[in-house]
Amino acid sequence: MTKVIENIYQLSVNMEDILFEGLWEMPNGVSLNSYIIKGEKTAIVDGVCGWDGVPESLFALLDKLNIAPESIEYLIINHMEPDHSGWIEDFKKINSNFKVVCSKKSAELLEAFYGHTNNVTCVTDNDTLDLGNNHILKFVEIPNVHWPDTIATFDTLTGTLFSCDAFGSFGKVTKSNYDDELSDEEIDFYEREAVRYYSNIVAAFSTPVKKAIDKCSTLPIKIIAPGHGIVWRKNPNKILEDYSRYAAYQKGIAKEEVTIIWGSMYGMTEKAVQHVIKVLEQEKIKFHVHRVPETSWGTVLASVWTSTGIILAMPTYEYKMFPPLAAVLEEIGKKKAFNRKAFRFGSYGWSGGAQKELDEIMNKHCMKWDFLEPVEFKGAPREEDLNLIEQKVKVLVSEVRTLVKG
Ligand code: FEO
Repeated sequence: MTKVIENIYQLSVNMEDILFEGLWEMPNGVSLNSYIIKGEKTAIVDGVCGWDGVPESLFALLDKLNIAPESIEYLIINHMEPDHSGWIEDFKKINSNFKVVCSKKSAELLEAFYGHTNNVTCVTDNDTLDLGNNHILKFVEIPNVHWPDTIATFDTLTGTLFSCDAFGSFGKVTKSNYDDELSDEEIDFYEREAVRYYSNIVAAFSTPVKKAIDKCSTLPIKIIAPGHGIVWRKNPNKILEDYSRYAAYQKGIAKEEVTIIWGSMYGMTEKAVQHVIKVLEQEKIKFHVHRVPETSWGTVLASVWTSTGIILAMPTYEYKMFPPLAAVLEEIGKKKAFNRKAFRFGSYGWSGGAQKELDEIMNKHCMKWDFLEPVEFKGAPREEDLNLIEQKVKVLVSEVRTLVKG
């Protein structure tokens, strides 16, 4: 338990060795954050879910703060996804009189997931809740960041924005939960984890994210306290600006970076990939290399999101694209990573076919990637194939640099 500011406390629990949403690998874990606001009345904003004995931690925290669980008057549910609301059933066992404050959509989901309908107050933009002692909470609808039910809660006294998933990041919290207590390197770690989180969980909703940033930016924010990751107490603008950039990357020009996504059956395409890695090193451009299916979708997505250039390398497989590459490209398409500069090469045995499937995926998701002419080679790449690939990669790097410099 830590103190965010006078009368506001955080309970944060790290989760590791699980797939987030049953799907996303988290090599560095994630924190789940819950907040307690003490006015004359007490409210809990979001919660930490029931895994890992968390209700006990919550009850211990309440004990430390001399708050009887039965005296908690309000549960504010910014977003109903069970990583934030899964503890309600446990909480109900000890306090049957609390009131839930949430959006209309959250109320519907609360009934659908937990059958909970008692004492639910639905709020909308600019509605307020007075906890006493000047803690007047104001609600802001930020739908589709990333579920349609999402709101943010703003404490007008302290300028604290409880943003739930918005402005969150992966990465477990170890040394401190607050940006003012972390080194630049530690902040960089959470920035990388924010990119992973954004690209995996929020990216498809980049337009609603932009609207949410615009809306929240009208508030006199002093602290951003998200449901995942660290609290931004020293520099809340940093995470707002970072999220603005991540949202903008959806439309195309991102960083001066290249991501290679590749697969190989018997090492023929791999020979050309090794050559491309040397070329990128010579070109001194930042690049990421991901082999599929060995690398998780989440890791691939994180570097695709920040890369302006993408290189796809794969053999033809049963007249189509190497299946793991097709699968990850489908996911990239669903996240709407548009307008990348791209190049494809790879090996085939007796027939091509990868291009047709690649075109289908690009069209299906309206990705509008700008591809250089592909290079395919029969069996192993010959010297002339490697030379041609090298030439294309150099063109790609040059075009990426031109685009980024604008
Ligand atoms: Fe952190 Fe959408 O739940």
